Amino acid sequence: MAKFTFVKNNQTTNLHTLKEQQMKTIRTFEDYREAYDHSTRDPEGFWEEIAQEYQWQQPWDKVLDWNFDEPSIKWYSGAKLNITENMLDRHLKERGNKLALIWEPNDPKEKFVRLTYKELHEQVCRFANVLKKNGVSKGDRVCIYMPMIPELAVAVIACARIGAVHSVVFAGFSAHALADRINDAQCKLVITSDGLFRGAKEIPVKRVVDEALESCECVERVIVKERVGWLPNMVEDRDVWWDDEIKEADRDCPPEPMDAEDMLFILYTSGSTGKPKGVVHTCGGYMVYTGYTFRNVFDYRESDIYWCTADIGWITGHSYIVYGPLLNGATTMMFEGVPTWPDPGRFWQVVDKYGVNQFYTAPTAIRSLMAHKIDHVLSYSLDSLRVIGSVGEPINAEAWNWYHIHVGKERCPLVDTWWQTETGGVMISGIGNATPLKPTFAGYPMPGVQPVLLDGDGNEIQEDDVEGYLAIKHPWPSMLRTTYGDHERCQKTYFSAFKGYYFTGDGARRDKDGMYRIIGRVDDVINVSGHRFGTAEIENAINQNEKVVESAVVGYPHPIKGQGIYAYVICQDGGADEEILKAEITETVVEEIGKIARPEKIQFVRGLPKTRSGKIMRRILRKVAEGEISNLGDTSTLLDPKVVEEIISGADHVE
Ligand code: WTA
Repeated sequence: MAKFTFVKNNQTTNLHTLKEQQMKTIRTFEDYREAYDHSTRDPEGFWEEIAQEYQWQQPWDKVLDWNFDEPSIKWYSGAKLNITENMLDRHLKERGNKLALIWEPNDPKEKFVRLTYKELHEQVCRFANVLKKNGVSKGDRVCIYMPMIPELAVAVIACARIGAVHSVVFAGFSAHALADRINDAQCKLVITSDGLFRGAKEIPVKRVVDEALESCECVERVIVKERVGWLPNMVEDRDVWWDDEIKEADRDCPPEPMDAEDMLFILYTSGSTGKPKGVVHTCGGYMVYTGYTFRNVFDYRESDIYWCTADIGWITGHSYIVYGPLLNGATTMMFEGVPTWPDPGRFWQVVDKYGVNQFYTAPTAIRSLMAHKIDHVLSYSLDSLRVIGSVGEPINAEAWNWYHIHVGKERCPLVDTWWQTETGGVMISGIGNATPLKPTFAGYPMPGVQPVLLDGDGNEIQEDDVEGYLAIKHPWPSMLRTTYGDHERCQKTYFSAFKGYYFTGDGARRDKDGMYRIIGRVDDVINVSGHRFGTAEIENAINQNEKVVESAVVGYPHPIKGQGIYAYVICQDGGADEEILKAEITETVVEEIGKIARPEKIQFVRGLPKTRSGKIMRRILRKVAEGEISNLGDTSTLLDPKVVEEIISGADHVE
């Protein structure tokens, strides 16, 4: 294997002390308590103080204006800023030669890429000029469908530089799913690559874009970055190469002045009904909150190397690979590969190679590695690690312990960060070494976050050691402002279940110490390997298969993915081979959404358990999928109870 020497940051230490004096940093439980009390006593004063760390082109008139009924949420109204000025320009003087980004390729034999703040700044400015030259201006939507290569981060930041709204779509989504997202946001331009590497596989990315664009009239231009060296079909007058364009671009690009409440990006996510919705985040509040939470949750110190293994196609990658770290002048890593290739020691090899100090991943990755020999971990030192983190789904006790003992060596705090695409940043979590750890508990709310547990009638449950619906009662700066093009949907989805609260869709437990443990979704959202899907979304996909009459989808516990997708399907009679039919239905889902949404189990049924009013009783389907048939609860309201017996007898039980 080729060896590349890696030289760590060699920053000046005086920066460290300087920054700490300027910034509010939580180091002890007392600091946390103080910050939390301040944030609830005087939320506006608290967030005003934090915001002062940043460079604003014009100050705000008012810190916060809000009501949760419409909803209307405005942070730092009247202020002007450009977030990229705070991620790049602001650091140039003191950190120009510090590493901003380290990129580790899929194949360990390929050379890594390192970009200093100066270099990243230059790349971003050049590419921002490329976007302008290709007709993009402030407010235009740009779709980014790319592998985890440095240009993905550059593209995201370049959009923000000129005030274009990025909509990153994870490069595992199908052409159909991509087209829906492009059309919903009416994107003018798409940025993509020829193909991508994922473990041992090579995947054609441009081909997916070409197929999607057959049904997207809004797209005028496609910029293609070469990654795998294939020669894709380049459509005349539409497609241009990244490398050709950037060569000629000017390195000077002033940051576009943005209102604090101007849109920064759209990110699509699934809910319990209908198509995925475009969650909208805005410039000012998102900047303040992601910057603050990054620094505190991960206890980031000036010369640390921080690595989050997420894909930038998800919110975790947006907030905690790109925005949060760069706002803090941190060194952030991007990883193109997968945890198990070329072997299950890949993560730990990378940690040792760069001396990673903060490592942030998902429980599903941990569980997939637990299934392999422990030697894959033990043959690396992992001495550099100081904080380890988890995100995306509840972490079960076995995974928590394995991660804490074998990776964190029982000396690193394991921060279990609960949050959502809609919340923009971490909401409930351990904070470095400052707050106590409790396995499987996310812990305490971040300063500025006021969680409550509600009962079914929307009353706040005051006692501790209880479970309830998790809602938030006061705005925080990075909360979603709307769902793109459909404000009513935002109101209905998040602000109408419980009047006066933002409803998360999660259930939670609060223990006697006031710490929170997230139980999981209480709505029709399934969380597969940390990826969200709506049951309706998958059912719609399955129903696209012409042999399908009706379907119902539920989640069930899966040992690695957290939840797996279990589909009950009614097909037309016709005596088709069940295995072939299953394969066809799976293929339909792959076409409609992508491989990540493939049902684990498909059971053919003759009927679905419905109430007299025609509503599917998912509770029953969930129990059957979990194999818990002895306790189906009340089935008296069913139209035809016989259906349930049939379903039970044909169930594909979980071992
Ligand atoms: C779940 C990911 C338990 C939760 C940042 C939430 C978690 C949904 C955790 C959001 C955690 C996320 N513990 N559950 N630490 N983190 N979730 O939008 O159900 O992809 O509502 O955001 O994932 O998923 P999303």
